[in-house]
Amino acid sequence: MHAATPLPFSETVAAIKSFLPEKLQTPRVGIVCGSGLSGLVESFREVVIVPYDKLPGFAKSTVPGHKSSLAFGLLGAGEGVPAVAMLGRFHPYEGHPFPTVVYPIRVMARLGVKSMIITNAAGSLNPNIPVGTIVVIQDHLALPNLTGMNPLLGPQTSPDHPRFLPLSDAYSPTLRRLAFLSAHNLKLERSALAEGVYAWVSGPTYETPAEGKLLRGGGADVVGMSTVPEVLAAREEGLNVMVMSLVTNFVVIPDKYRSIREEVEAELAGKPLELPVAQVVSHDEVLEVGREKAEVLKKLVESIVELIPTI
Ligand code: 6GU
Repeated sequence: MHAATPLPFSETVAAIKSFLPEKLQTPRVGIVCGSGLSGLVESFREVVIVPYDKLPGFAKSTVPGHKSSLAFGLLGAGEGVPAVAMLGRFHPYEGHPFPTVVYPIRVMARLGVKSMIITNAAGSLNPNIPVGTIVVIQDHLALPNLTGMNPLLGPQTSPDHPRFLPLSDAYSPTLRRLAFLSAHNLKLERSALAEGVYAWVSGPTYETPAEGKLLRGGGADVVGMSTVPEVLAAREEGLNVMVMSLVTNFVVIPDKYRSIREEVEAELAGKPLELPVAQVVSHDEVLEVGREKAEVLKKLVESIVELIPTI
């Protein structure tokens, strides 16, 4: 948990700059592309791809649907805004220590990024938020942070960082406004974009029904296995942050458990019950919805980035 050796920020920054033309060397906006969402980078112009394995301090992402590279380019109309996107992120469930998970965020801050747009695939806990909805995150519920697993535990990365980071304003209202203004400009249906609270769980298991119920009861609208460590590091680095979750599946929370006793008793009485169809979430389902909705999310991100210089 404790960073034994100093992190190689200056070497990473120098390595990155060696791949880039002058005008891409100081990205202003950082984007994290979630599961199945690496297509966001198709809007980039003059793109330069830098694989993680060329960068000191970067790990290799092991999840299908992740590409393990940074993409640099210009985004939006006119001259364009210099931006950097992570194609693939690191998750604690892969076995990466927290400092590794958030290393790219800290590197982006050192390159000159001021605003982060973080995307992810998430499960919905809210019946009013169906599959395919993009949720602009307004707050989070991080059970690991409440149980001694906060990603920022340990020595500080920089003495300039606050030791006790406030999180009441973690999700920038200004950036969130741009999401809704962009949705209007793009003539998206009102239901395409929602607002909600993200619950972070460590994974790699999906939630049990009882856990889903706990999170919903605690006020969460969507649940996922990423993003919160990145948000914490970005806020610690002084960046503005917004998060958009693409709902790829629904977390079924039954009002009542199926009772095996009742089923057996009904069967023994010669009146078998009709059995509910079991619903199980799969990573393929998550990737498929990602592909379908990636187009909308791509347009939204591009429009938000175009508007960022106006704030
Ligand atoms: Cl249902 N749960 C979690 N923890 N992460 C997810 C998800 C569900 N769907 C996509 N990512």
